[in-house]
Amino acid sequence: MREPASKATPLVTLRINGRAVTVPVGTSVAAALAMTDRFVSRADLSGRPRGPLCGMGVCFECRATIDGVPEVLMCLTPCREDQEVVTDA
Ligand code: FES
Repeated sequence: MREPASKATPLVTLRINGRAVTVPVGTSVAAALAMTDRFVSRADLSGRPRGPLCGMGVCFECRATIDGVPEVLMCLTPCREDQEVVTDA
């Protein structure tokens, strides 16, 4: 008898500030950040922590360096295998 095909969602593993995070394919980098213990993307001019707010490319609070490219919006960027994300905070 054959086993039924797996319905498990494929996963990808990326690194956020050096920490490995494994998420389902299609997850945004901002959502992956929310799965960590530090949902902070940057600091404002006073040093206060800021995090993704709108989730749809309007507030620009989710800017990060992704694979060496600065100022990328995490909420509009899907996670990829071996992706390197560095936040400013
Ligand atoms: S969360 Fe607002 S632009 Fe990304």
